[in-house]
Amino acid sequence: MDLSTAIADVRFSSCLMNASGALCVTREELEALGECRSGAIVTKSMTPAFRQGNPEPRYYSFPAGSINSMGLPNLGYPAYARIIPELRRFEKPIIASIAGLSPPDFLEAARAITAVSPDLIEVNLSCPNIHGRPQIGYDVEASRALLLELKDIVTVPMGVKLPPYFDPVHHEAAARMLQDVGVDFLSVINSVGNGLVVDPDEERVVIRPKGGFGGLGGTMIKPVALANVRAFWKLFDGRMPIIGTGGIVSGTDVFEHVLCGASAVQIGTALVDEGVGVFQRLEQELSELLQRKGYASLSDCRGTLREL
Ligand code: SIN
Repeated sequence: MDLSTAIADVRFSSCLMNASGALCVTREELEALGECRSGAIVTKSMTPAFRQGNPEPRYYSFPAGSINSMGLPNLGYPAYARIIPELRRFEKPIIASIAGLSPPDFLEAARAITAVSPDLIEVNLSCPNIHGRPQIGYDVEASRALLLELKDIVTVPMGVKLPPYFDPVHHEAAARMLQDVGVDFLSVINSVGNGLVVDPDEERVVIRPKGGFGGLGGTMIKPVALANVRAFWKLFDGRMPIIGTGGIVSGTDVFEHVLCGASAVQIGTALVDEGVGVFQRLEQELSELLQRKGYASLSDCRGTLREL
């Protein structure tokens, strides 16, 4: 089954890849993504300097999904600028995710990483886990200002990782801004920020940072992810490449994202739970499903979700 895809004219042999944040911080983790059946290598969101991240425990998985407050632990962009050229030997697209605690951080990371030519750059506007730093993606004008500055620096296709929006007015405002800026692809969605998971036996929270508040991922957020993929697919008339992220644990989940309009998907919680073998399993499940339904490739069903 042909599971290949393209994002902003970059070819991917498989539409399945890791979500930034999931098993992609260290050189070893990035190399493991190179060696497995993932269609790309996506880096952890990088900041100017090494970050230890938030205190542990900061990740908790449970049947409905996961909650995390990692706090952007990463090696710092100088390390990724050294590692990225070495990852080319795996001959799959490399997506560098950049982040920051302030706009100048993003610009600094963008300059250094553009110089080593990853295939795409994903600008993370949506980390919910830095105390005192609101998610930029919820401020349309701040996002516009930052992205316009980044557009002057970045010379490879540039996309944005967005937070979930919950109201059509917010989807429309974000889409107008992204159209004006001229981004090349969207990654939707980041975790559903600032949820709270309670352990009723222990009568306490399950992660330490921010009093237990953290980003929700996994199965429970799939409807929110699908709604965001679908909303942006429609607002851009199917012309904006969308990477769907959120709640993918089976081939059927991938199929649902594609029906809503995703060109590719990223795997977070299921990758952390299962390791890099998840890509082969999902590939097989998706191929079998498409075959059963009589589709020859992903493009045959992308965006074709029927409405009643
Ligand atoms: C984190 O490092 O806290 C998660 C990254 C993100 O949600 O963007």
